[in-house]
Amino acid sequence: MRVFVSRKIPEPGLEILKKHFDVDVYEGDSPISRKELLVRAKGCDGILPLLTDKIDSEIMDITGIKAIANYAVGYDNVDVQAATERKIPLTNTPGVLTDATADLTFALILAISRRIVESDKYLRAGKWKGWDPMLLLGGDFVNRTIGIIGMGRIGKAVARRAKGFGMNIIYVDHEQQSDIEKEVDAKKVTFSECLQNSDYLTLHIPHTSETHQLIGIKELKQMKPSAYLINTSRGKVINEEELITALAKRIIAGAGLDVFFDEPEINPELVKLDNVVIVPHIGSASLETRTNMAIIAAENLVEALTGKKPKNIVNPEIYYK
Ligand code: GLV
Ligand code: GLV
Repeated sequence: MRVFVSRKIPEPGLEILKKHFDVDVYEGDSPISRKELLVRAKGCDGILPLLTDKIDSEIMDITGIKAIANYAVGYDNVDVQAATERKIPLTNTPGVLTDATADLTFALILAISRRIVESDKYLRAGKWKGWDPMLLLGGDFVNRTIGIIGMGRIGKAVARRAKGFGMNIIYVDHEQQSDIEKEVDAKKVTFSECLQNSDYLTLHIPHTSETHQLIGIKELKQMKPSAYLINTSRGKVINEEELITALAKRIIAGAGLDVFFDEPEINPELVKLDNVVIVPHIGSASLETRTNMAIIAAENLVEALTGKKPKNIVNPEIYYK
C-alpha cells in the first residue's frame, strides 16, 4: 500500500509508516498546493495531511484515499461528513499536545498581561533610563478570574496551571466537568457569566458550525474593559474584524492570539495594535509534542489501513454500519 504525507514530519512517525507502506513525503518548505496534493495523493491508500490542507469530497473522490490521519487534534480542515459517507476513517492526535497547548496558552496570558513583548521592544530600542515605579505596569493573576470556554483536555490543563497561579476558575462546557471542579475548584457558569466575570477569557473549543465566530463585538462588549482574550484554538471561532475594533477602542484590554481567521494571512490592522501579542500557530510546537503527534498519526494510519479501528477515530460510526 502507498501513503502520502503532505509535509516532512518528525522522523519517528515516518519510520513507522515506512515499515508498512510505500511512503511519499512532500518535501516543500510551505504548505502543499491543492493542485500538487491532488496529483501526489492520487492512487494512494492513505494520506497524512496537515491542518493547512483542505481535505474535501473532491480530494477524496479524485485521489481515492481510504484513510485520513490528520496531523492535528483539530480537524476542521477535513469534511468529516464526506469522509463518513465514503466510509473513510478519519483520525486526529488528541492527548499528546494537551500540555504544550496549555503551556502556550499560559505563555500568551503572561506575555500580554505582563507586557513581555512590549518590554522587550522597549529595552532593545534603548529607551530604558533606569528602574521606574511606574514603568510597564501590567495585570495580576492571584485572585483574578480565568474563564475557560471549552473544558476538554486542553481546557483542563489550562485550569491546572491557573490554579498554580492562585486564580479563580470558571468555565463553559456542554457538560458538567466534575473531575476538574473537584481538582481545582472550577465553577461551571453560563456563557454570559463567563464573559462578564473573566479577567482572562481563553478559548479551547473546536471550530464547528456551532462555534463559528462565537466571539464578536456583542460578546466583547460584555467583557470587562480590563479583560484579556486568549485564543489558541482556531481563528474562525472569533469575528476577527470585530475583535480588532474592540482592541482599538479598548473595549477589552488586550489579546493573545496563536491562531487567525485567514492564517497565514494576518489582518494588517491587527499588526498595528500594541495591545495584542501574536504568534504563528505554535500551540503544539515543542519538539517532543510534534514527534509524538507524528508517531500517533502514523499509528492511526497503520491501524486504519490494516482493518483495525484506530485509537483516535473521529468518525467511529463508519464501523457500526
Ligand atoms: C493544532 O492546532 C492542532 O489542532 O493540532
Ligand atoms: C483537545 O485535545 C481537547 O479535548 O481539548
